Amino acid sequence: MTNTYSFDKSRIKVVLVEGIHENAVTYFRENGYSDIEYYREALSGSRLEEKLRNAHIIGIRSRTEIRSDMLRKAQRLIAVGCFSIGTNQVDVHEAKMAGIPVFNAPFSNTRSVAELVIAECIMLMRGIPEKNHLARNRIWMKSASNSVEVRGKTLGIIGYGHIGSQVSILAESLGMRIIYYDIEKKLTLGNATPVSCLEELLKYSDTVTIHVPSTDLTRNMISGRQVAMMKKGACLINASRGDVVDYKAVAEGLRTKQLSGAAADVFPQEPASAEEPFTSELQEFDNVILTPHIGGNTLEAQANIGLEVAEKLVKYSDTGSTIGAVNFVEISLRPNASKQRFLHIHANVPGVLKEINNVFSSRNINIAAEFLQTDPELGYVIVETDSELDHSVIRDLRNIPHTIRVRVLF
Ligand code: NAI
Repeated sequence: MTNTYSFDKSRIKVVLVEGIHENAVTYFRENGYSDIEYYREALSGSRLEEKLRNAHIIGIRSRTEIRSDMLRKAQRLIAVGCFSIGTNQVDVHEAKMAGIPVFNAPFSNTRSVAELVIAECIMLMRGIPEKNHLARNRIWMKSASNSVEVRGKTLGIIGYGHIGSQVSILAESLGMRIIYYDIEKKLTLGNATPVSCLEELLKYSDTVTIHVPSTDLTRNMISGRQVAMMKKGACLINASRGDVVDYKAVAEGLRTKQLSGAAADVFPQEPASAEEPFTSELQEFDNVILTPHIGGNTLEAQANIGLEVAEKLVKYSDTGSTIGAVNFVEISLRPNASKQRFLHIHANVPGVLKEINNVFSSRNINIAAEFLQTDPELGYVIVETDSELDHSVIRDLRNIPHTIRVRVLF
């Protein structure tokens, strides 16, 4: 006879704060999680600590900070979901060392950014920001000068990753020629053409758009020298990270008419809230579009984030799979109701696996399957058996030296 195992999900407490999109709540409920606490506001201090002490899963956005001292006290916590792109609001290394994977949604807003970039590209090449400014100041500047179609023009994409490649597809459907530069070899979409160096891209592009991460290599990758290499009268768009572009150099390029327009969504110093003033070298120019880091902020992106992170959390809780965790070794497993699953997270030191196996072999329990992943600091092993649950197994697994966390899915 084959046993069927299913664990009692109603005992898993899910705490969601900061008004996370309702898609997340629906997804947890549809998957059998009924103990859900939902808060519209961000939590901090003792209130957050109390929630963390009782929660098995916590979902936050960017205003709730989970720091190492709180993680140490969160004995029940099995996972953190950052319903955001970044994970800076959590001490992810400390979470890892506490055996807690942290999940996020890095690509839920890719399309939103790409659409904004396309819109800005058209606006800049038509000279709309300047005409808009004049019209608001009662000046009727009905002129075709500095106003061109994007069709047939060259868009240079720096960084052909998730966003860059989406921009490529959308721009090509408008009839643009696409060239791109990436440090990695990429699968080229449509008729885009890779170029071998940044200089080549700058030389031939009518508009340049940047989609790289912030790294030592990309910091100020567009500076005075690069602006000077661009086509006379080209436009520049940055919706990647603020420190990738030296905006002083862009301002100088606009002043000398080397650039005919620019759009910036990200800045080296961004205000934390609407109460703080925002200043930029680009504010004095009429042919510039400035936006407050909203490239990825759409209702669709919020909905996608709600679903994407909830899916990852449920998958981890149900199966032990850590795919998509930012701080954890990755194990990907399908649900298997015919097996009992033990999850063992430990410091990666020699001998722990042997001890784990001993716990089962000393009871004559057959291990049906075993999955192990390690990084230099952490080991994560999932053991599958098909015996009845013996609670002393969990106790003995917990007692193995260097054990961080043990869970059983039965
Ligand atoms: P991704 O990781 O999918 O793509 C980045 C690409 O840049 C990769 O193909 C990589 O090989 C390439 N790259 C890295 N260093 C490079 C270099 N030195 N030269 C040329 N290429 C280089 O990232 P994704 O999702 O496309 O995001 C791109 C940027 O957009 C990131 O900086 C991200 O933070 C930002 N972003 C901005 C948003 C906004 O609201 N404005 C929203 C989402 C992302």
